[in-house]
Amino acid sequence: MTKVLLLSGPNLNLLGTREPSIYGTDTLETHVERATARAALSGLALEHLQSNHEGVLIDAIHAARGEYAAIIINAGAFTHTSWALHDALNTFDGVMVEVHLSNPAARESFRHTSVLAPVVNGSIAGFGRRSYDLAVDAVVQLLDVGTGEAPK
Ligand code: DQA
Repeated sequence: MTKVLLLSGPNLNLLGTREPSIYGTDTLETHVERATARAALSGLALEHLQSNHEGVLIDAIHAARGEYAAIIINAGAFTHTSWALHDALNTFDGVMVEVHLSNPAARESFRHTSVLAPVVNGSIAGFGRRSYDLAVDAVVQLLDVGTGEAPK
C-alpha cells in the first residue's frame, strides 16, 4: 500500500484546548483520524507522528525517504523558523504538502513567512479542520491515485 506520512510539529499535541478560537476544538487525534480515513478512500495508508522537537521531525523525514510516497506537514511555529526542516524536506523526493489550520498570512507578521513553502509542492492554510481534508486531496491528486469517487 502506498504510504503517506503526516507530520505534526510543536504544540499541535494540545489541539482541542490550545487557543480554540484560532485552531478549533478538534483534537489532533480527531484530525489524524479524519485524514487517515480520507486517505484510505484512495488506497493510501496514512501514518502520523507528532513531536515538539525539531530533530525528531528531521529524523522522521530522513526515515521517510524511499519509504513514503508523500509527506503532509504541519510544522507549527517551525514553519517560520526552521531552515533545518527546509533542508530535510529538500532531501525527500516524493510529494510534499504543507498544511495549517489557521491562515498564517492573516495573523502576526512573524507568521507571514514559511521557510518550508519553497521546497514543498504546495501549501494549504486557513480552512480549519478542512485544511487536512484538502491536504489529503492534494496528495491524492499529485500521486494520481484518486478512486474517482467523491470523497465524503
Ligand atoms: C499553525 C500556524 C503556525 O503559525 C502556528 O505556530 C501553529 C499552528 C496552524 O496550523 O495554523 O502552531 O501551523
